[in-house]
Amino acid sequence: MSTLWHGRFGAGPADELMAFTASLAFDQRLAGDDIAASRAHVRGLARAGILDTADADAVLGALDTVAAELAEGRFEFVPTDEDVHTAVERRVTELAGAAGARLHTGRSRNDQVATDLRLYTRRALGEVAGRVLALQNTLLERAESAGDTYLPGYTHLQQAQPVLLAHHLLAHGWALARDVDRLLATVARADVSPLGAGALAGSSLPLDPAFTAEQLGFAAPFENSLDAVSDRDFVAEALFDLALLGVHLSRVGEEVVLWSSAEFGFLTLDDAYSTGSSMLPQKKNPDIAELARGKVGRLVGHLAGLLVTLKGLPLAYNRDLQEDKEPLFDAVDQVALALAALTGLLGTATFATRVMAAAADSPMAATTDLAEHLVSGGMPFREAHEVIGGLVRDAEERRVPLVDLVNAHPALGAEAAALLEPGVAVTRRTTPGGAGPAPVARQLRRFRDRLEVDRHRVDEIT
Ligand code: ARG
Repeated sequence: MSTLWHGRFGAGPADELMAFTASLAFDQRLAGDDIAASRAHVRGLARAGILDTADADAVLGALDTVAAELAEGRFEFVPTDEDVHTAVERRVTELAGAAGARLHTGRSRNDQVATDLRLYTRRALGEVAGRVLALQNTLLERAESAGDTYLPGYTHLQQAQPVLLAHHLLAHGWALARDVDRLLATVARADVSPLGAGALAGSSLPLDPAFTAEQLGFAAPFENSLDAVSDRDFVAEALFDLALLGVHLSRVGEEVVLWSSAEFGFLTLDDAYSTGSSMLPQKKNPDIAELARGKVGRLVGHLAGLLVTLKGLPLAYNRDLQEDKEPLFDAVDQVALALAALTGLLGTATFATRVMAAAADSPMAATTDLAEHLVSGGMPFREAHEVIGGLVRDAEERRVPLVDLVNAHPALGAEAAALLEPGVAVTRRTTPGGAGPAPVARQLRRFRDRLEVDRHRVDEIT
């Protein structure tokens, strides 16, 4: 068995070693990035005069062939292909012969894998951000078409005050806007090229990390070769961003689960985005929403797992770092799937606007407005709270409608009773960022503008 290091070794690797240490099964997906990084490296070698033009062209041609073989599913991996870097270099050497043997000059898999993974992360987070924008856009469309639809707002999952449905939907939209921000900030910090750091210390050959960084479209080359090959902050940050994004999706999911229940009845799922039961013919289940809620366990696990892997590692590269890839790939995949599924679910669900309004029209949801009515007349809020609280208790104990007590009360009367009319309370929320029609109209405009700006920011990195 021929390995990248067979020159120094008398015997080939044990099967158990290969089985335990090989990463090809999961790092194959870095093949395109590995080829891009290899192209940049070859150009750097040629520019430094380390590779003559003929050899450089031969290696670049072989890299093109490898790329085509991979793209067409014709690339044949062999048992000694321990990881994607080994596989690509092995094939280049088969194709380009003597010139291929020069590809790894001044390079180590340590700077190579860090470069590949940064290229992947930059692209993958850009794609995730694009999917977040799509979900935000669906929330915006649903919010715009929701018009004056209102529903109870909750604290402690107890009905509190009515809010516009648009307001509720955009609350999730703003959380996602912070996710987009975070993803872009992580991409900016990941945008540093480790290529040229070698195994850990740089090179005796006249390589120029700034040149290869530019070739790969990185914002800058590394400052310190030890840091370049051992830094996985960008993976930890990506995992945090994805975990928190997942937490946000879990909150959306939980509300869909509640709202689609018979007890709430606020929302009906489209058939294409709900599932049936194998036993109970009447069931229509919100499995997408449940999985959006449930996937967060592994997302948080991936973050915690990587942090533990990184903790206490001595400089510089250690094989432990190979454990960075699977959590990252899985987190990206799962969040991307969840975003697409939730976008479809929310885009096609039917809101039961009359059920929502009926639930929100309980006079109890307007008691704060009654207290504030008394405040407008000069009464201190604490006192007003007590007065209205007394009426609520009375109404419950004597089983009389609250509105009757309000009408009969000397400091309240008909004007205050009108506040209990269906649909009135939500219109009373007029302050900036509040839940009523006037501030929500402004909020919709601000959200639309923000989405437009973020779309440009994401386009710039994808
Ligand atoms: N498969 C390895 C990883 O993912 C590549 C780097 C291996 N480097 C080494 N010196 N063994 O980290």
